Amino acid sequence: MTSPAARVPRHIAIIMDGNGRWAQQRHRPRIIGHRAGARAVKSCVEFCLDNGVQALTLFAFSSENWNRPSDEVGGLMKLFLGALEREVDELHRLGARLRFIGERARFAPEILARMQAAESLTAGNARLQLSIAASYGGRQDIAQAARALAEEVAAGRLRADQIDESAISARVALADLPPPDLFIRTGGELRISNFLLWQLAYTELWFTDTLWPDVDAATLRRALDDYAGRERRFGLTSAQVAGHATGGTT
Ligand code: IPE
Ligand code: IPE
Ligand code: MG
Repeated sequence: MTSPAARVPRHIAIIMDGNGRWAQQRHRPRIIGHRAGARAVKSCVEFCLDNGVQALTLFAFSSENWNRPSDEVGGLMKLFLGALEREVDELHRLGARLRFIGERARFAPEILARMQAAESLTAGNARLQLSIAASYGGRQDIAQAARALAEEVAAGRLRADQIDESAISARVALADLPPPDLFIRTGGELRISNFLLWQLAYTELWFTDTLWPDVDAATLRRALDDYAGRERRFGLTSAQVAGHATGGTT
């Protein structure tokens, strides 16, 4: 029998979508929605800590989001910097290890410095692995892994026939974490939008119409309850999976 703890996802990955529509519904500028979204991040982190989720990966800004109107991008960068200034100490106190995945070279030096400082400060924490995907794209992630492998082959440290799935897994983002067990997208869209393409291969997907700023513990509880009822087969038959759970053979 599976213990209740085994039914809690170890790693949750979330596309936090719907901030703009949340603001539009209130006839406010989009940036107000992003601000409200930042508040929802805090309650989501608290939920994970309270429920024994070990890793949380949040899609905050995609590679493609750089192409939004410059005032929105500028507003988001300000918000990002403000959150780094205000929230990191508290996250450290709570035992979260903070990391950033994505193309960091595109950020302004002051943001970059804050990101690095947050990572060093929290490097020894183990209660929650909190990864923020910022300027992140799944295709870009796979491309940089391919480039790294090509460089190793060119340098003679690796043979082409040694490139297998585990070699790629080791070079994409979040390589040291178990892949996400549960993917959540808020805001009603049914797509992955270039999030963790490699890492989501066998992740359970859960979608809700709730806009990200409205997400609370009750929303996340529904996602976890739904996840707890899923049977993850990884290509096996249901009977095989049941056999594994009881320690029997099939
Ligand atoms: C998600 O909310 C946050 C970012 C992409 C930065 P959106 O800004 O995409 O909100 P909608 O989808 O327009 O409502
Ligand atoms: C995905 O949301 C990126 C983030 C939530 C950071 P988007 O709003 O950018 O995705 P699309 O454009 O609806 O696919
Ligand atoms: Mg959106």
